[in-house]
Amino acid sequence: MRLTLVLGAQFGDEGKGKVVDFLAANADVVVRFNGGNNAGHTVVVGDKTYKFHLVPSGAVRGKVCCLASGMAINPSVLVEEIEMLKRAGKRFKLLIDPRAQIIMPYHILLDGAKEKSARKKIGTTKRGIGPCYADRAFRSGIRFCEFIEPKIFKERLRAALPFKRRELASYGIRCPSEKKILKEFLPLARKLKSYEADVSLFIQKALKQKKRILLEGAQGFFLDNDFGTYPYVTSSHPITGGALIGIGIPPGSLERIIGVAKAYCTRVGSGPFVTELKGKLANFIREKGMEYGTTTGRPRRVGWLDLVMLRTASRICGFTELAITKLDVLSGLRKLKVCYAYKHCGKEHREVPANTFEVEKCRPVYREFKGFKLPEKIKSIKDLPKEARIYLRFIEKQVKVPIKIISYGPERKQTIFNR
Ligand code: IMP
Repeated sequence: MRLTLVLGAQFGDEGKGKVVDFLAANADVVVRFNGGNNAGHTVVVGDKTYKFHLVPSGAVRGKVCCLASGMAINPSVLVEEIEMLKRAGKRFKLLIDPRAQIIMPYHILLDGAKEKSARKKIGTTKRGIGPCYADRAFRSGIRFCEFIEPKIFKERLRAALPFKRRELASYGIRCPSEKKILKEFLPLARKLKSYEADVSLFIQKALKQKKRILLEGAQGFFLDNDFGTYPYVTSSHPITGGALIGIGIPPGSLERIIGVAKAYCTRVGSGPFVTELKGKLANFIREKGMEYGTTTGRPRRVGWLDLVMLRTASRICGFTELAITKLDVLSGLRKLKVCYAYKHCGKEHREVPANTFEVEKCRPVYREFKGFKLPEKIKSIKDLPKEARIYLRFIEKQVKVPIKIISYGPERKQTIFNR
């Protein structure tokens, strides 16, 4: 493994945490490159459970952990995570790119206010992600390198505040004062200053030294700000292109690009979901799969596996392999359905249409499969029931990408490597 990229191929929450966790065992460096504390993952080691929103899960394994330039960092959440890990006796090296954006208190207030007042809600995590990236595009964001220099930080804050006051006032909300923000943020900056390092340069040097590097995407392909179901998307780029620009690495350095997908599909927040299920079956899958948001606790919407989505994600991201997770959740169902095309106005679509309003009107075309019941002990793909192998082979054939990892439970040992 030189550079291995792990991406969500659906709407986020595909089980990337588990895939990253065991790949991290053989990595020297783990990097996050997009989003912020809108993401959440849980790592279970023995009887200890660690919940992260910012620090890559490699921290538990004592790896070098990087927060690259494409990230939006909430400094107080980051300090809490670092302190939690220190208390747990975990030693790891953390590097934060100077170019990463800082989430300010007014970003969080604006995110909440916009959601509250919107007629058509996005269903954001209200962590300030959208307003923070909007400020980056608007050139009024505060970068990590500015945040850790008190004089520059004050200047940048002073320049931003009048606009933020006006914007918040339009929602009837008072912006926190400069004094209040400085009181909270200056001590955080002092705690984080020593972690500053050019992650792009570090990764290039590490590559030359033949180090093994794992890139951990947050969210999923269809939440991408360009290629997702806009406007029901996040504000960063959880796709291959996003990793390149969110770290600062050339495309040739990527060796493996793993698209992670559940054996079914979930979505949290608003937006089209062509294969969405309602009623008893949806409740069954939600409960069995424990489909509740790690960050917000919201119940996730549930549906059948959508190969039109995987085909599009794979074409744009160049997946070299797929990881299929949560196969166990489907175990015991009598019949399964997989969507392999969409229909709209008499036309068949093999890829997700660019226009979200068209996606909203698409109907799924399903292939039905016999259900399967997974045995207790599974060591290799041969131990899977024939029906499960047929299901997985159909995915490979339709997406034209081999499935190399199959996860059938939350534990590390509940994983098949299909070489
Ligand atoms: P934001 O990223 O908080 O702005 O939210 C935008 C959309 O992305 C909403 O539909 C969120 O529910 C969704 N979203 C953001 N982060 C995640 C995630 O880590 N998993 C799943 N959905 C997410």
